[in-house]
Amino acid sequence: MIQKSRLVLGIETSCDETGVALYGDNGLVADVLHSQVAMHEEYGGVVPELASRDHVQKLIPLIKQCFSEAGIHASELSGVAYTAGPGLVGALFAGASVARSLAYAWEKPSIGVHHMEGHLLAPMLEETPPSFPFLALLVSGGHTQLIKVSQIGAYELLGESLDDAAGEAFDKTAKLLNLGYPGGPALARCAEHGNPDRFTFPRPMTNRPGLDFSFSGLKTFALTTSQQNTLDEQTCADIARAFEDAVADTLAIKCKRALQQAELSTLVVAGGVSANKRLRSTLDAMGKELNVNVFYPRHDFCTDNGAMIAYAGYQRLLAGEHDKLAIQVRPRWPLSELKVPQTI
Ligand code: KG4
Ligand code: ZN
Repeated sequence: MIQKSRLVLGIETSCDETGVALYGDNGLVADVLHSQVAMHEEYGGVVPELASRDHVQKLIPLIKQCFSEAGIHASELSGVAYTAGPGLVGALFAGASVARSLAYAWEKPSIGVHHMEGHLLAPMLEETPPSFPFLALLVSGGHTQLIKVSQIGAYELLGESLDDAAGEAFDKTAKLLNLGYPGGPALARCAEHGNPDRFTFPRPMTNRPGLDFSFSGLKTFALTTSQQNTLDEQTCADIARAFEDAVADTLAIKCKRALQQAELSTLVVAGGVSANKRLRSTLDAMGKELNVNVFYPRHDFCTDNGAMIAYAGYQRLLAGEHDKLAIQVRPRWPLSELKVPQTI
């Protein structure tokens, strides 16, 4: 018997990007994204209520666009996956309601996906994917975590930020340097012209054992440095460079420690901050020194996207998992609560 090919629709709406994608037996079939950056820009950050409303408006047109680009009809789907958490509750509900309603109308199973599992598995969409087990460094706007990944669903938290996430520290530091929103890419651009030798920022929590992080002090260090100097264009770039170097070094020091402690030789880096070039070159150098292979998602899949949700949902739906009828989202959801899909 020829098995029908399996195809999953993935929907991401946890924050300020509406992402829709189709992933199937032959890989990624279509992937579309609407970014809300322009809408939130004038407020200097994400306005949750505006984010939810915009997801509601953009979802159906994006789903239609995705189907038409792939040349498929809803009847060909095996199921619908959507981000069920963590994230902004209204934004999550927008995606969950549309996904669940469509799945119900199409008589297909649906599955709520953990947003960070999506990020963590994003490098699996590349031509040369990592193999299990590996150490994952998740660096996004809301999370900075080191996770031992034995297989899909087997996640052991080794360390995490005790205060600001790395992306949050980028965003807050960019704001105090008047670099605008979204802060991470803006700060990285500004740091390109910075002198790395003018200021030296601390590498927090690296001179004591453990795998946790603390980034809120770096933002304060940037504030004090900016107050002690005339904040002209060059000083701004020098502070941005010192901040970026400190974050990259701190993350690399903890990754090295975790790789050695867990005796792992593969590192996966994912989440918005994994797009940062200086972080990538610092981690690549560390990987070379330790003989560790380092994997990243392609640039567009570092930040939020539908492809990673379609991929994670495909894996879980294929293993027979699916939601019950109630529509549920979880604004807070520890990754370590996930289970290995039964048939893996
Ligand atoms: O994964 P993501 O899109 O959303 C969350 O799940 O939070 O990550 C967004 C975060 C933001 O804090 C943003 O400033 C940061 O990733 N980011 C960057 C870069 N691109 C995005 N940080 C540093 N350098 C970048 N190039
Ligand atoms: Zn994310």
